[in-house]
This record gives sequence, C-alpha cells and structure tokens, in this order.
Amino acid sequence: MPHDSKPSNFSGNRPFQDVLQARMSRRSMLKKSMILSAAGFVGAIAGNNVLHPAPAAAKTTRTVANKSGGSALLNFDPVSVASATGNPPVPTISADYEYQALIPWGTALTDEYDDWDGNPATRLNSDQQAKMIGIGHDGMTFFPFRKQTNHGLLAINHEFGRNSHVLGKDNPESLEDVLISQHAHGVSVVEIKQNDQGVWEVVKNSAYNRRIHVNTPVTFSGPAAGDALLNTPKGNAPAGTVNNCANGFTPWGTYLTCEENFNGYFGATGDWEPTTEQARYGFRTNGFGYGWQNFDDRFDLSNDDYQNEDNRFGWVVEIDPMKPNEPPVKRTALGRFKHEGVAVTIGRGGKAVCYMGDDQRFDYIYKFVSAANWKRMLKQRKSPLDEGTLYVARFNDDGTGDWLELTIDNPLLAAKFGSQAEILVKARLAADELGATPMDRPEWTTVAPDGTVYCALTNNSRRTEDDPTGANPVEFDESGNVIGNPDGHIMSWVDADRHTGTTFEWNIFVLSRDTRGTEAVFSDPDGLWADPDGRLFIETDGGQKDGLNNQMLVADTKTKEIRRMFAGVSGDEITGLTVTPDRRTMFINTQHPGNGDPSRTNFPVENNPANPNGPIPRDSTIVIKRKDGGIVGS
Ligand code: FEO
Ligand code: CA
Ligand code: CA
Ligand code: CA
Repeated sequence: MPHDSKPSNFSGNRPFQDVLQARMSRRSMLKKSMILSAAGFVGAIAGNNVLHPAPAAAKTTRTVANKSGGSALLNFDPVSVASATGNPPVPTISADYEYQALIPWGTALTDEYDDWDGNPATRLNSDQQAKMIGIGHDGMTFFPFRKQTNHGLLAINHEFGRNSHVLGKDNPESLEDVLISQHAHGVSVVEIKQNDQGVWEVVKNSAYNRRIHVNTPVTFSGPAAGDALLNTPKGNAPAGTVNNCANGFTPWGTYLTCEENFNGYFGATGDWEPTTEQARYGFRTNGFGYGWQNFDDRFDLSNDDYQNEDNRFGWVVEIDPMKPNEPPVKRTALGRFKHEGVAVTIGRGGKAVCYMGDDQRFDYIYKFVSAANWKRMLKQRKSPLDEGTLYVARFNDDGTGDWLELTIDNPLLAAKFGSQAEILVKARLAADELGATPMDRPEWTTVAPDGTVYCALTNNSRRTEDDPTGANPVEFDESGNVIGNPDGHIMSWVDADRHTGTTFEWNIFVLSRDTRGTEAVFSDPDGLWADPDGRLFIETDGGQKDGLNNQMLVADTKTKEIRRMFAGVSGDEITGLTVTPDRRTMFINTQHPGNGDPSRTNFPVENNPANPNGPIPRDSTIVIKRKDGGIVGS
C-alpha cells in the first residue's frame, strides 16, 4: 500500500527514538553505530529475559550459504541475491520449494461469468467485479473443513487498487466506475481444494463463496455500537469495509479483517475543514485520489447528510466464513485507528488478547484483553471482542514498557472524553493524552508459542533527531547527520501475566540495515508469522536493496539466522500468510505485481520478457510447498 505519507500525530509524545537514546546515554557512541550498539545494549539490559537470545547472538544477522551449516530449522537452499536480481518475469523460490499461482484478481466465484484473464480490452464491470476475486490481495486465513489439510475456505483481504490499475484511468468518470473500484476492495471467502495432482483449485458455486465489499451491509457491536458518533443525519445503514490490510483469526473460528488507510477513500466536493479528529486521522480534500466522493455522497466529507460516515471505518471487522449469510461485525471495543492487523492469542485465565499496530509514521501499538475467559463469554452469548480493556503501549528507557488503559475509568481520559464510545471512536486522540510512544509505522504482529510477541516496524525516513515526534532507532550518515530509519526493524516483547498484564519487557529482534551486505539483505519488514517451531517468517513491502524485488525470508528466532525463501516480481509486495493444519501448504500473496504495468510483468500469465500489450499483471495468491512434501519453512 502506498501508505499515508503525511504524519498526523501532533501530540508531542516522547518518541521511541528518545527512549533508545536515553538508554544509550553517550551521544558519540550513538553516532558511530546506533544499530549494532542498540541491539547489544538492549540485550544487555533486557537480556535476563529467558525468552530472548543472549546479547552476543543478538548483535547481527548471520546467514549461511547452504544447508550443510547453520540453523537446523532452516534446512533449505536460500534464494541468493544473485539469482533474484535481473528482474525475473516470474517469482523466484528456493530450489527446495515450488509454487503455484491461485485466485488472481478476476477469478469468478460462480460460473455466471468466466474467469477474467487480465485482457485490457475486456475489463470487468461492477457486477462482474462483485462476483469475482478482488484486487490488492493482503492478509488471509485458511479455514479447513474439519481440520482437513486439503480442503477449506480461504478468507482473503483486498486492500486496495489504484484507479489506473483497476479502471485503466486515473479518475472515475461515473458511478459505475466508482462501483467497480468499490467492489474490487474488501474481502473474499472462497472454497479451495487440492486435487489428486496436488494442484489447488477454486470450488466454483460453493455456498461459502462470498464477496464482501464497500457496499455490503455490516453491523456494529461493542461499546460504541449505536452511539451518535456512528450515526449519520441521513440515517443510512452501516455498509462496507475498505482498505482491508492484514488480518487475524480467533480461537472460535472466525476471520478478522483490519481497516487501514480508510481516510484515503473520503474527499470533499465542497467547503470542508477537517475537525481535530479528522486531521488526526489524516482526512483531506482529495483523499488518496480515488475520487469516490464525486459520484457517491457517502464518501463526500462536505455532504452534511453523511456526517460521521467517516467514523464507520477504521475498525477490526469479524467475519464467520462458515456462515455466509451473517453480516460482518465491526468490533468497536478494539478501537478505531489505521488497523494494520491483529494477532489473537489466549492469555492467562483463557482471556482473548489482541495485539494491533496502527500503521502510520509516529503512531502506536495497542492491545485488547477480553473481560473474561473466551469460552465462558461465548457460552454467555457474548463476544470476547465486545467486552474488555483496550491499551496503548509506552516503551520505557529501562527495557520495560507499560500498557496504558484507554478507558473512561482512566482519570486522564475522563477529563476529556464523554464516554467509552467516544474514546474508542477517537482512539488516536485518547492515546495521545496518555503519552503512548510514537513508533516507526507498526505493521504486523505475531505471537510465538513461547509468548514472545513480534512486531514489524516498517520504516520511518522522516524522523529527525530533534523532531519531538521522531521514533525508533535512528541511522546516521558518515557526517553524523540523522537519516532516519529507512529500512525498518522488528521488535519483540513479552507481557507480564501471560499477555494480560500491564507491563512488558521489550527487545529489538533485528534492525533491517544490519542485513546490508549479507545474503539475507532485506528492508521494510511488514508481514510476520511466528510458526510453532521457532521460525519467524518475514515478508517485505518497500524498496529492497541490491536490486531485489520484495521477498519472504525465514528467521530462526533463537540463532537469528535468516534465509530468503521467495522473491516476487517487479513492483509487487509480498504479503499475507496462512498455512494448512499440517503446514505442508503455505499461502502468501503478491500484491500489485508490476504496479499494474504489463511492460514490467504479465504475472500470473508467464511472458519472458513481459509483453507491454499483453495481460495486465494481477494480484495473486501464491501456494508454496516443499518439493519433498515437508513442513514449509524447514
Ligand atoms: Fe497495509 Fe501497513 O500495510
Ligand atoms: Ca502493504
Ligand atoms: Ca502491511
Ligand atoms: Ca508496508
């Protein structure tokens, strides 16, 4: 996603950069080598945490050239920098693995329409698009039928598609154009099955196949449901989900889709000035240029009938893939911000705990803890995601952190907010009041079996040394000037009281720039998944080094070795990750291959070289298997 490039956090909260600097104490040492020092120093302070490797091992990323050495967890030949450069027309994968493209944009869910092949002369109309796989494949979860490993439902997010890619022009010229764009966004649920030849296929006409898009009826639940802030003067019913970035899934078998850059779909056709709250969420006259407001009043910020429509986006949305007739439910207890994703785990007492990043420069990390044991709540016909406590993270100098309570019981908030509903709708503003730590664009979180939570901070090149909203470890150039954190990093922390406490201990797992000059070079970490064996899968979205396309790597969390498993095509990003119960099939996504330009790639149609007049490259799911049938990652 072209993220929202304008920071909107003007709180002046103490940035994470300062926290690290205070821990470093000596400025000159910082200047020399912030990265190596930070990893070692953090390890020295927080290294008594048994869940983290010793500082010595923590210092740098080490890679091995082949299977004969190094981590026992990573028994595959890496894709080398050399073999993944030179702009290959199709993705590159480890020699021990194979892949298949599945459900590209335009795959029909029923046999009413044929699958679209990317031919620019036969672009989809809005009815076709509403019944086909959308664009911008992102987070997804495989839901097996009765733990079957070869058959189940794939719930998949369609984050975004530029007008130039979806419509073949920069601006919509009619409501029909806007509807095509709106129907290309949202979520798909699609039944898939592995055939006797090991090839995964779509089950057309399945009763479970379903498109959820910007005009699908939805409901609200939790403390803000029914509040005036979520009602419009027009009285229109809530509908739609948009910019569905990463995802989560619950122990009770549902899918969670996260609304990220929702602000970009609203604009103003007339006089309009943003409120404080709208400014904090980044609303502006032309949005991100989708132009929906010109043909759909609902997205027109200057249309008084639709006041508060913007408050209806920015939520975590629950979908039961096994119940295709139930509307998606927006869970307001989890707060409203630019939700990247949500990692759900079970904490002490059987409470459901959700870790969530707000992906914007200088924004925050949140967690939600359910009020009681999730099974007991469900028995009482309550959603564990409707009652509980929302917190925002503050990272302290000494390697500890605090979860600050975003509730109306918190005196700091009771003085400024009228109700819990208002705190949740304006969660960013409430978090500002508490002194949360501005971060370097929090992307995915994932929880390892040992309880360690990992979070990708993708980058923040805008941070300056003296910027009071700067964040995270800085890099200095040879002259000692701050150049921000252009490559990003991955953090980890462990919460007290098995995820339910209000304190934690944090660490830095890897600073991406430490990998420069190694075979495992990467930047802009985004998607993360900690598998049950101690691996951390890392997916990237941003300008990679050494001519590499975006990629998926696998780290051994104990030794910190990292190997490249997969590299995408020109212009794409690699995102989304889910596995079958036996972990012998993994699904990931290529989003916006070739940035939609057929002169760069025609993927998933294979042309070498790319045919500039050929098929439009299409976002696709990539099915990954080990050639020997082993566990993916091994
Ligand atoms: Fe949708 Fe922050 O990536
Ligand atoms: Ca992305
Ligand atoms: Ca992302
Ligand atoms: Ca990203």
